Amino acid sequence: MKSTCYKVVIFSVVALAFGLWGCVQPKGQVKGVSQKPVQAVKQEGPKGAAPSVQAGAAGESALYMKEPPALTPVQCAQCHRDIYMKLKEKGGKHRIFCTRCHTKFHSYNPVQGNWQELMPKCSACHKEPHGPKFPDCLKCHQEPHTPRVVPNSDYLVSSCNSCHTDEDAQLRQFKSAHTEQGCDACHTRHGLIPSCLNCHEPHTPDQQASTCTSCHPAHKPLKIHFTKDTDSKTCSSCHEGEYAKWSQTPSKHGKVNCSLCHKEHGWIPDCKMCHQQPHPPNLLARFPKCLDCHLDVHDLPIKKQGWLHDRTGIVQPGAS
Ligand code: HEC
Ligand code: HEC
Ligand code: HEC
Ligand code: HEC
Ligand code: HEC
Ligand code: HEC
Ligand code: HEC
Ligand code: HEC
Ligand code: HEC
Ligand code: HEC
Ligand code: HEC
Ligand code: HEC
Repeated sequence: MKSTCYKVVIFSVVALAFGLWGCVQPKGQVKGVSQKPVQAVKQEGPKGAAPSVQAGAAGESALYMKEPPALTPVQCAQCHRDIYMKLKEKGGKHRIFCTRCHTKFHSYNPVQGNWQELMPKCSACHKEPHGPKFPDCLKCHQEPHTPRVVPNSDYLVSSCNSCHTDEDAQLRQFKSAHTEQGCDACHTRHGLIPSCLNCHEPHTPDQQASTCTSCHPAHKPLKIHFTKDTDSKTCSSCHEGEYAKWSQTPSKHGKVNCSLCHKEHGWIPDCKMCHQQPHPPNLLARFPKCLDCHLDVHDLPIKKQGWLHDRTGIVQPGAS
């Protein structure tokens, strides 16, 4: 019984020695890796001899001349594929060496509870880009491997106005139904710009969503403003009569965009804005209202209709 046990121990020691020797043996040429230092060990260390202090001291130290290169992200990805993919797809400017952030890793010890200590700190590379009000970076940047993906947490929603003061101020100053909406009712994801057509019908069936904000600023939609290029067709949905007359008139006003005259919604222009001195003053003193003679600004009667004689008795230039 005792001798069997003894043999087993001897066998194990021999097997272990051979096993270890097998590890040191070069297992065939690896591309790009020099074999020289390993051979030097073989020559200097006598086969089967006990480890010696002198053996190869000079040659082996050469093994430690090089600074080992950091594992590349792809190498880390061999085991951490999910994190690599996050960085690959949405990592943005965080697509750098993993080890630039993870200066310490693979040393988590649940007994020590050192997780927090191991994890990279934003402050190693960043100051406080949003000011001292927001020191707790991970509260919003919940996934550092996709730094620009910031979920609409309650905390973020309650903070919109700290960073976007203009939009908040507009909504407050120019009261509209949008003031009653939370920022996240429209911005369902941080940075997402919603289409107005998610919630509204267009004025005319073919009206594009891209036109809406040209008249309605999103955060003050009742502060409607026109530009000289505003599409007159939009007006037709509510002012059908004016639009119909204007779009068919033979007069030159048919070429004047609605918004050139109506610079603001509801605003009525003075003819003199564009026609400074159309007639002698004595005539205008007698007939101060232009439309007494010109009748309909959206469908001016024009010369060939011969209306001037009938209505005012004024003789047209060139007529006998
Ligand atoms: C810009 C810095 C930065 C880069 C680059 C980075 N990490 Fe991280 N990583 C962090 C931070 C910060 C945490 C801690 C997150 C937390 O506390 O929730 C973390 C956590 C981790 C964790 C543990 C938590 C988890 O999600 O499993 C692993 C594993 C990890 N990173 C691997 C990687 C790998 C692999 C790469 C490269 C492919 C990488 N990291 C690149 C900053 C970084
Ligand atoms: C051979 C596989 C392998 C490679 C390669 C690898 N890891 Fe890990 N890593 C693991 C395992 C296993 C764990 C522990 C289980 C887990 O958290 O997924 C881990 C845990 C981690 C952790 C969290 C725990 C800790 O102790 O730090 C970080 C951070 C981490 N790895 C970063 C990296 C980085 C950075 C690289 C590349 C420089 C890398 N790992 C390469 C297998 C690997
Ligand atoms: C090892 C350094 C390092 C650490 C640690 C680090 N970052 Fe960065 N971060 C960078 C660099 C470099 C950039 C790119 C800066 C630039 O080009 O302006 C960047 C950019 C960013 C960006 C903008 C990303 C983009 O694609 O535009 C955000 C957001 C960000 N970091 C948040 C964080 C947060 C939050 C943490 C902590 C969890 C953190 N960073 C930790 C180095 C780091
Ligand atoms: C209240 C939420 C919140 C907190 C807290 C916060 N951030 Fe941000 N941060 C954001 C949002 C939202 C963005 C914009 C992301 C985007 O581009 O869509 C951002 C953008 C950034 C950017 C890119 C800046 C730019 O102008 O392009 C960096 C860098 C950044 N954060 C770093 C940090 C750091 C470091 C901390 C901690 C000191 C931090 N953040 C804390 C919400 C936050
Ligand atoms: C900590 C500061 C911070 C907070 C809080 C914050 N944002 Fe931002 N936000 C930013 C930064 C930084 C950007 C990026 C600006 C850029 O890309 O030029 C941004 C971009 C945006 C954009 C896109 C702007 C564009 O021009 O495309 C929208 C929309 C937006 N934020 C809405 C919100 C809403 C809604 C909230 C609240 C739920 C919010 N933000 C909270 C900092 C913040
Ligand atoms: C009724 C929907 C709606 C609400 C509510 C809303 N937004 Fe917007 N927001 C938009 C639309 C639409 C745009 C795009 C405007 C454009 O393209 O001219 C926008 C644009 C933005 C932008 C980009 C810069 C700009 O002004 O064009 C920021 C930042 C922003 N909103 C922040 C906020 C914040 C903060 C709140 C809450 C205080 C808020 N928004 C409420 C619809 C909304
Ligand atoms: C998330 C839904 C949502 C989006 C996106 C949205 N709105 Fe609204 N809007 C509303 C609600 C709700 C009201 C109030 C009820 C109604 O009139 O339908 C409203 C009302 C309005 C009003 C009347 C305001 C008042 O006080 O009477 C105008 C004008 C308007 N929206 C224009 C727009 C424009 C232009 C856009 C795009 C820039 C837009 N809306 C995007 C939800 C939205
Ligand atoms: C040419 C300018 C113009 C454009 C472009 C425009 N609107 Fe309007 N919108 C108006 C005017 C003017 C009103 C009437 C305001 C009033 O009642 O005083 C209005 C009213 C509204 C109202 C209030 C409810 C109603 O019908 O009276 C909503 C909602 C609205 N618009 C949504 C939109 C949407 C969505 C778009 C883009 C598809 C859009 N608007 C494009 C000028 C415009
Ligand atoms: C050449 C300038 C001019 C053009 C172009 C013009 N308008 Fe007018 N509009 C006026 C004037 C001036 C009045 C006031 C008429 C009056 O006092 O009887 C007016 C009045 C109106 C009124 C008030 C109701 C009425 O008929 O008196 C509406 C609505 C109107 N215009 C809509 C439009 C629309 C829609 C268009 C484009 C299809 C348009 N206008 C093009 C100058 C113009
Ligand atoms: C969504 C419907 C809608 C659209 C689109 C619309 N309007 Fe109006 N408009 C109205 C309403 C409603 C009024 C009456 C408001 C009031 O009395 O304040 C009005 C009033 C007017 C008036 C003043 C009428 C008066 O009697 O004083 C003019 C001028 C006018 N609109 C021109 C336009 C022009 C020009 C456009 C296109 C660029 C346009 N509107 C687009 C709904 C609309
Ligand atoms: C926004 C500028 C503008 C306003 C305001 C305006 N008009 Fe004109 N009108 C024009 C233009 C442009 C023409 C064409 C001139 C040309 O081609 O020589 C014109 C032409 C005319 C003509 C000649 C018609 C023709 O077809 O030959 C008459 C008459 C006239 N306008 C009367 C008026 C009266 C009356 C008013 C006020 C009720 C008025 N206009 C307001 C811009 C305007
Ligand atoms: C008493 C009637 C009457 C009044 C009032 C009147 N007009 Fe005229 N207007 C005419 C006649 C007649 C013509 C000549 C038509 C022609 O030459 O073919 C004319 C021509 C015009 C023309 C075209 C000139 C050209 O060279 O083609 C314009 C512009 C014009 N009027 C603007 C106005 C304006 C603006 C007012 C108000 C300040 C006004 N008119 C008031 C009768 C009148």
